[in-house]
Amino acid sequence: MKVFVNKRIPDNGIRILKEANLEIIVPETETPTQEEWLENCKKADIILSVGGKNKYDKDFFDACPNIKAIALFSVGFDQVDIKEATKRKIAVGNTPDVLSRATSDVAFLLMQMVSRKASYNIDKVKSGNWKDFDALEELGQELYGKTLGILGLGRIGFEMAEKCKAAFGMDIIYHNRSHNQEAEKELDAKYVSFDALIENSDVISIHANYTPEQANIFNESIFERMKPNLIFINTARGGFHNEQDLLSALKSGSIWGAGLDVTNPEPMDNNSPLLELSNVCVLPHIGSATIEARSGMARLAAENVVAFAKGEKMPACVNPEVYED
Ligand code: 8YV
Repeated sequence: MKVFVNKRIPDNGIRILKEANLEIIVPETETPTQEEWLENCKKADIILSVGGKNKYDKDFFDACPNIKAIALFSVGFDQVDIKEATKRKIAVGNTPDVLSRATSDVAFLLMQMVSRKASYNIDKVKSGNWKDFDALEELGQELYGKTLGILGLGRIGFEMAEKCKAAFGMDIIYHNRSHNQEAEKELDAKYVSFDALIENSDVISIHANYTPEQANIFNESIFERMKPNLIFINTARGGFHNEQDLLSALKSGSIWGAGLDVTNPEPMDNNSPLLELSNVCVLPHIGSATIEARSGMARLAAENVVAFAKGEKMPACVNPEVYED
């Protein structure tokens, strides 16, 4: 079978594909056009898809009828129309678990960066504005004993909650599709309604799977109901929050600060007014950007490809229904 690997990945992934004697197609140039990308997709049976830019929807599947499986190099699968893929018996794999630590580390990092206005202070040193001591200038806030609210308490959310509890003795509340028994038992996490989550949290961190129905759920009317000391953390997908409303909420003092590893769009416009605020930290979607996580993702994505090519079930499949008759 032919596998199109649309961007470079760690060597261990390529080795696994080669050991399985799969034919590998790679882009001819470093920055292929959309047309070149589509041409390669048309030649392939399986795509190992790196990066969130390419969309796999009805039009794509119509244009590439040969595609039998997509192995995503990501835990998120919002770039695929899963319903459409399942209807066509196209298996979709993802890379859960291997990046949970790395991604939760970035949520934890952003929470602390925002709480101590780290971006503002780094800029101050770099721009030569570190001058006299001022006991009242741009003070941060401490996190000890505060309440962390998690939207989507799965594997990444659990890791984030565990760190916040261990480091700062934070209380954990969460809202999810279902109860997370492990988090309730081990972290004393309390399941609450979405309304209670937004009204009672001191920090909100998003760790849910993104679907179009959740577009802009964090908007003006929601920010208005949050505590004025609220730190908003998004390491999931930029679509969850309305950037304009977030800016207004920060400026008006409805909420206290924001840490984003994901924006809408990506890359963020470097002239975004959000970047001028002292209580905002933005990172360029680096949640899984560690040697350990990326090599785990390469291994799992390649194992998904190989399993599919052998006629076996993918070890991490988003739509296992495709294996049912
Ligand atoms: C990736 C991600 O960096 O796993 C995800 O869902 O967003 C990131 O880990 C990115 O999607 C690369 O494929």
